[in-house]
Amino acid sequence: MSETKAWVRITAVENIPLREGRSVEVGCHDLAIFNLGNRFLAVENRCPHRGGPLADGIVSGSTVVCPLHAWKIDLMTGSVTNRPENLQCVRTFQTRVEDGVVLVELRLANSAMEGSQSACLASISKDSSLNHSVLGEA
Ligand code: FES
Repeated sequence: MSETKAWVRITAVENIPLREGRSVEVGCHDLAIFNLGNRFLAVENRCPHRGGPLADGIVSGSTVVCPLHAWKIDLMTGSVTNRPENLQCVRTFQTRVEDGVVLVELRLANSAMEGSQSACLASISKDSSLNHSVLGEA
């Protein structure tokens, strides 16, 4: 199965409040998307320590503090900033805003894209945090 990069329309900008995060599942990706005011940043929604939900963390500057044990993650690089001995990091994803909609660039399996877009959207519809607001591919 090959993969293709695609920009996926996630949600309207107003659905992610300023300095907060929201989680969304897109295919096999579990994302945490944050509104920093002048930009949106997206990372894997899984803390490298013990898998805490980063979307529920407290945003501080361009970092988020994991709600479980307070590891601090840089949202631009995915690195842990308050555990210098720790080399783990989380995946980051490119974002952009287009016509008031947040888009994230993802690698998607071609089989999901070829089968039909509805197959892809079916997995997206499991999202509980953004209430099915994923809008499709751009
Ligand atoms: S799970 Fe995030 S700091 Fe422990």
